[in-house]
Amino acid sequence: MKIATELVQRATGVTRHAEPLTTPIYETTTFVFDSAQEVRDYNEGRSQKFLYSRYGNPTIVAVEEKIAKLERADAAMLLSSGQAATTTALLGLLASGDEVVCSSAIYGGTLHLIADLLPKFGIRSRFVSIDDLRTPEAVITDATRLVWFESPINPTLRCIDIAAVANACRARGVISVVDNTFASPINQQPLSLGVDIVMHSATKYLNGHSDVTAGVLAGSRTLLEPVQKARRMVGTVLDPHAAYALGRGLKTLSVRMERHNTTAMTIARWLAADTRVQAVHYPGLPDHPDHAVAKKQMRGFGGVLCVDVGGGYEGAARFFDKLKLFNRAASLGGVESLCSLPVLTSQWGHTEEELQRAGVTHSMARLSVGMEDADDLIADLDQALS
Ligand SMILES: Cc1ncc(COP(=O)(O)O)c(C=O)c1O
Repeated sequence: MKIATELVQRATGVTRHAEPLTTPIYETTTFVFDSAQEVRDYNEGRSQKFLYSRYGNPTIVAVEEKIAKLERADAAMLLSSGQAATTTALLGLLASGDEVVCSSAIYGGTLHLIADLLPKFGIRSRFVSIDDLRTPEAVITDATRLVWFESPINPTLRCIDIAAVANACRARGVISVVDNTFASPINQQPLSLGVDIVMHSATKYLNGHSDVTAGVLAGSRTLLEPVQKARRMVGTVLDPHAAYALGRGLKTLSVRMERHNTTAMTIARWLAADTRVQAVHYPGLPDHPDHAVAKKQMRGFGGVLCVDVGGGYEGAARFFDKLKLFNRAASLGGVESLCSLPVLTSQWGHTEEELQRAGVTHSMARLSVGMEDADDLIADLDQALS
């Protein structure tokens, strides 16, 4: 063979002798077959082989299998972001004329997607309050095909009774989907509470190192089948490199969550006892409005809390600008502690009415508590409050 041919030959032989401890990054867009029959077998579901990385890739599947176990699901899917997971699920499960019922207290990106984009495809939406969701059977109509909610809710940490919503949906043949991002599967397993599909922004706790944007859907294989097809068509699958990093992050999820839970609880108690603070929202505090629900369905309360420092937007901005250890940054769930002002980030672009329905005030600061020492974090909050 000439040099140009030699350069692109496949390296064979080495992999037969290697048994790696970690799942390698299958950095390939496509997979090789021996015959037309093998391709046909793959297409007709008689083969475990891979064909094309947009359809599936061993690095991605290895992480999907791990997450399915974590969420007690038959199957899980990795997508290129939390928003890609939400979009692909809704496109795969719904048709023109269907109605989605969605909690109006929800991550802003989800709200805008359901309220502004889906109607272009004939998918209608109805937003309901947390109070309405206390009697979930009353929010479902004959047109409802799917109920989408999150618990704990970004950024107020309000919680919804997952089993109650799931049971009401099941009784009416409606699909229930919960965004489990704030809890993580260590603190809350919604499928065991009867919900049909769990969604995550894996950008947050699942990866945990603020360096991967990814999304997850988990549920029954049958229910996820049309969503798998949609992922192939819209091309929202995760890249194998990102899947590898996510798989590495996942290995420490349970220890990270333990630490998030204890440090956030310590900080929430300290803030709740401080008279300079107007309100502390953390489901682990006994006076949180949904503490009983949270205690019933969660094993820990997570690393995010929201503090109302008073003084309107100016008060929150002053507090935010004075922080030294907490990074002024959007996102959450990483090893680094972050602070964001919801009116500028997760709820940016909301009208006053939408903010009110989401329970968000201009003087709120959301804290994502990382892996630093609790005393150092408290000292930072103390100096910023002063
Ligand atoms: C609760 C929740 N769901 C979904 C998303 C969207 O996830 P991503 O940013 O990975 O697309 C976010 C992002 O902040 C979130 O907080």
